Amino acid sequence: STNRTFTMIKPDAVANGHIGSIVNDITKAGFKIIALKYTKLSAEKAGEFYAVHKERPFYNDLVSFMSSGPIVAAILEKDNAIEEFRNLIGATNPAEAAEGTIRQKYAKSIDANAVHGSDSDENAQIEGDFFFSADERF
Ligand code: CMP
Repeated sequence: STNRTFTMIKPDAVANGHIGSIVNDITKAGFKIIALKYTKLSAEKAGEFYAVHKERPFYNDLVSFMSSGPIVAAILEKDNAIEEFRNLIGATNPAEAAEGTIRQKYAKSIDANAVHGSDSDENAQIEGDFFFSADERF
């Protein structure tokens, strides 16, 4: 559905103590939390999550980084959620992220870029289902 997206707070932002600030930015921007989980991906699970990028040169680094420490996964709800959330987090490369965006504030590099945001309704559904069962959504 077009009013939901999926996000992860990545290992860099967790390790740097930014969980609270990022969740605060997300809720202040008007997103409602539908599901929320603090967990860690195995390399196998990270590879499965990012399978769409399997042929990309950055795939191995991405998988090892995303399994290097705990993450926060969440399903978020807001009108026009995909686009609104992408605007909130800024460009994939934090060097290109607009002032005030989450990646501009908390990210250091294109790999350690603080947060993930779904790029389509279809992927938001798939990614949310990867982490959350029906009884973990409120
Ligand atoms: P994310 O939105 O989680 O989706 C895939 C991730 O791969 C992306 O954020 C980046 O952290 C990482 N990545 C590394 N290099 C690139 C690249 N050249 N283009 C896109 N994503 C990249």
